[in-house]
Amino acid sequence: MDGNIKSKWDELIQPGLVHGSLYYDEAIFKEEVEKIWFRTWVYIGHESEIPNKNDFVTKSIGPMPVLMVRDSNGDIQLLLNRCPHRGNAVCVQEKGNRARFTCPYHSWTFSNTGDLINYAFPEGYKGTDKSQLGLGKVTRVTNYRGFIFGSMAAEGPTLEEHLGGAKRCLDQLCDNSPTGEIEISAGFLQHRTRANWKFILENECDGYHPAFVHSSIFSVSDSAIGDLYGNEAVAVTRSFGYGHVEVDPRPEFRRRDAPLSWFGTTAERLPDYVKQMEENYGPDRARQIMIDGTPHTMIFPNLFIAEIQIFVIQPVSANESIQHSTAIQFKGAPDINRRLRQQTMGSVGPAGFLLADDTEMYERNQRGLEIRQPEYLYLKRGEHRERRDEDGYLIAHSTDDMPSREIWKHYRQMMEAK
Ligand code: FES
Ligand SMILES: [Fe+2]
Repeated sequence: MDGNIKSKWDELIQPGLVHGSLYYDEAIFKEEVEKIWFRTWVYIGHESEIPNKNDFVTKSIGPMPVLMVRDSNGDIQLLLNRCPHRGNAVCVQEKGNRARFTCPYHSWTFSNTGDLINYAFPEGYKGTDKSQLGLGKVTRVTNYRGFIFGSMAAEGPTLEEHLGGAKRCLDQLCDNSPTGEIEISAGFLQHRTRANWKFILENECDGYHPAFVHSSIFSVSDSAIGDLYGNEAVAVTRSFGYGHVEVDPRPEFRRRDAPLSWFGTTAERLPDYVKQMEENYGPDRARQIMIDGTPHTMIFPNLFIAEIQIFVIQPVSANESIQHSTAIQFKGAPDINRRLRQQTMGSVGPAGFLLADDTEMYERNQRGLEIRQPEYLYLKRGEHRERRDEDGYLIAHSTDDMPSREIWKHYRQMMEAK
């Protein structure tokens, strides 16, 4: 290419500026599916969703449906939910338990390891090699502390390399459970949202909006969270690279020095949980874990750990996404689990304020982009106060746009890669 001709990415993504078409152009969306969703590690589901042999749940990688299965040997398989015959879905149930999947169209039957077992009226397939007609599989599958990730790329970074420093956040979450394990067992809510997936992704660590968009829930719930996002906040945002970002409230919680303040409660109100934590980690470590609380981390491109919930972002088209949300549960800790579910219902349930308010914002953003001037969105807030922490990660004030800038930097690298 002539050195004077800029690449399209030089035009679309500039320092602190991104072009509006990145959120609405269907051709760009199709390119993202190939270059991002079918290449990187994508969060699929948690092993606790399929605890027994032959359990399955339907999940996705981007817009592509995937079956997460615990096979008859107890191993986890990620199968592509497409019949090799004519492409029908071999399973349309959201979850269940079965050793075999029978395609509804012409009744081909597959084992839950993906092998073709039988066809209807087999005389018509004389001499056919069944072993070539199994279900497709996700190319690489890795489990980190129960979180199952898949990648359609045969090569590339390992999951551990991909997660990098963000692994700490998964550890921090699991350590808040007295057994060191979380469970995804409370059921999912699904919110269909008329907005591009990247508006949702960026919003998760946008600490600028909560003071305005969430002022109503903060005022009625006596929440400890509101203070994290004020002008005087000591919470920081951090980028781990690879598009993973967090809002780290620990400086604020350590200043308060009160166990369970992160959860808007006190040790006295959850005595069983506190006792279990002290028994399992020792009093000092338990106290530190309960002061620091759980993370607020967006793991690129689709897993948001939102303190007490996880959200999974599923892109549908340039203008539409589905957000799957559920309460996190700590294995073996019923008293805190009850509150985790109640608070989740209050914030992201059908009558909850939090997600409804956020969703209204992304949908208005998406509609706003129908207005084609100015062409670019402005993401320069806090550029002058970015700095490095002791581990070398970029940090900024909790209300700064640094997480979005870092997401776009990684996005551009992925989209430019051959
Ligand atoms: S499409 Fe599945 S059996 Fe024909
Ligand atoms: Fe929000």
